[in-house]
Amino acid sequence: MRYLVANWKMKLTIAESMALARAVREFVERHDTPDLHIALCPSHAALSEVGKILATSGIALGAQDAAHVDRASLTGATSPLHLAELGVKEVIIGHSERRAIFGETDELVHHKAKAVLAHGLTAIICVGERKEERDRGEAETVVRRQARAAVDAGTPWEKLCIAYEPVWAIGTGTPVRREDAVAQADAIRDELGKALGNKDAGARIPVLYGGSVDGDNVRLFTQAPLNGTLVGTASQSKEGMYALLLALRTLPQE
Ligand code: 13P
Repeated sequence: MRYLVANWKMKLTIAESMALARAVREFVERHDTPDLHIALCPSHAALSEVGKILATSGIALGAQDAAHVDRASLTGATSPLHLAELGVKEVIIGHSERRAIFGETDELVHHKAKAVLAHGLTAIICVGERKEERDRGEAETVVRRQARAAVDAGTPWEKLCIAYEPVWAIGTGTPVRREDAVAQADAIRDELGKALGNKDAGARIPVLYGGSVDGDNVRLFTQAPLNGTLVGTASQSKEGMYALLLALRTLPQE
């Protein structure tokens, strides 16, 4: 299975999100997208309306964050319970913007992933080094630490997915080189296997790449051992989304 996960961040209004969801639905109704799992992650405020548009389309509804518990005095937060009620199937956890701007720690990411997985939702956990960490030669150490911290031996890994998103590649127009993404995916899988106490599980967890992915380069990151992409900017317009989908349509089956 190959993945194309659209992270619309806080870039679209509810009306714009609905229009884009309709356009993506139209595309998949008109074209075959074999072996491709598509998920759209609008902002929480648009989940309900976008969910109605995607119903029965085969396109999954995703969310960009969830709280680490089901019920609590947590003003402004969204429970995994709400997401499940809204028909959300996958949740992005620990995006670098949430780590950097909202101060989310490895420990909080761990608890959020557990809370989401407990409801049978897919957790897409983001890991990735910052520019200065790569320059210091610490890129692998950082993703190993983040991957290890995200899970433990009791984590139900069947619905776990990792997105390797180097912070320096997000929104810059410069993606990582494929060989560097592959090396990081190897390190992530190795670390997950150790933390889960199950090497085989580690090897089977999908690893996506995110950071300046567009229609011109998406194929590079949608071939084994990488399992697809988590896309920001290029997924936030009809043109960008169609370019991604057209590029993936012609990718040979693995
Ligand atoms: P860009 O595709 O805009 O670089 O964003 C990547 C990202 O952060 C997806 O979660």
